Amino acid sequence: MKRLLTLLFCLSVSAGVQASGGGNYDHAPVDLHNKTSLQNGAKVYVNYCLGCHGLRFLRYNQMAEGIGATEAEVKEKLMFVGTKIGEQMNVSASTEMQTKWFGTNPPDLSLVARSWGPDKLYTYLRSFYVDPSRPMGVNNTVFKDVGMPHVLVGLQGKQKIVYKDVKSMEKQEDGSMKEVVRQEFDKFELVSVGELTPEEYDATVGDLVNFLTFVGEPHQLDRKSLGIKVILFLMVLFVLAYLMKKEFWKDLH
Ligand code: HEC
Repeated sequence: MKRLLTLLFCLSVSAGVQASGGGNYDHAPVDLHNKTSLQNGAKVYVNYCLGCHGLRFLRYNQMAEGIGATEAEVKEKLMFVGTKIGEQMNVSASTEMQTKWFGTNPPDLSLVARSWGPDKLYTYLRSFYVDPSRPMGVNNTVFKDVGMPHVLVGLQGKQKIVYKDVKSMEKQEDGSMKEVVRQEFDKFELVSVGELTPEEYDATVGDLVNFLTFVGEPHQLDRKSLGIKVILFLMVLFVLAYLMKKEFWKDLH
C-alpha cells in the first residue's frame, strides 16, 4: 500500500513538472477576450515578425474576425500592398534568402504558443541580452545561442546580465570540504533605453504573446461556447430519457 502511494505521488509530481514546461518562466498575461490587446499584438507581429516568420495556418480574414477588426481595417493597417484578404499570412522575404542570412530558417510560428507555451514565449522575448561573442551581438537566457537578432531592441533598449555569487560547500578529491563560489544569473539591467519604459515593453510583449496564443488556436473561443451548448443538450436529453424510462416501467409494474 505504501509503495503504491509513493508511486502515485511520484506520478503526480512528474505530471505537474511536465505541465509547467519544466522551466522557470514569467507568467504571460493571456486574455483572448481582450480585443484591444489582440489587435495591438497583431500590429506588433506584422511589423516586427512577419518579415521572417509566417503564420501559414491563418488567413488575413480569419485574423480580422478573431481580433475583432473589420476586413477594411486589416487591409489598411495590417496588410502589405498586393496581398489578398483570403490569403495565408506568409513571410515577405523568400526562404532561400533567409537561410543565407541566418544560416537557419526562421520557423513558422502558427503553433509556437502551443509547443512552447505562452509563458516561455513571453519570457523569451524579454530575455535578449548583450553578448559580443555572438554573431548578432545578443544571446538569450531562454534560447541559448539563438540565431535570431533582438528585433524589438528599438522598443526595449539593450540589457545586460547581472550575475550574483552563489557559495556552496563542495567535496574535494582528498575528501575535505571547500567553499566554492559560482556565478549565477541574477537579473537584467538596461544599458541603453528604448522607446518604451520597461512596463510598457512588458505590456507590448504580453499583447504579442496573447495574439500568438490566439493564432495557435483561432477557434478556441468558438469551441468553448460549443462545449457549453453540447453539455446543455446532453442535460436535456438525460431528462427526456429519464422520463421515458419511467413511462415504460409504469406499464410493466
Ligand atoms: C530577421 C529575421 C527575424 C525576425 C524579424 C524575427 N525572427 Fe524569430 N527567429 C529568426 C531565426 C533565424 C530563428 C531561428 C533561430 C535559431 O534556430 O537559432 C528564429 C527563432 C524564433 C523563435 C524560436 C522558434 C523555435 O521553435 O525554435 C521564436 C519563438 C521567434 N523566433 C519569435 C519571433 C518573434 C515573436 C518575432 C517578432 C517580434 C521574431 N521572431 C522576429 C529570425 C527572425
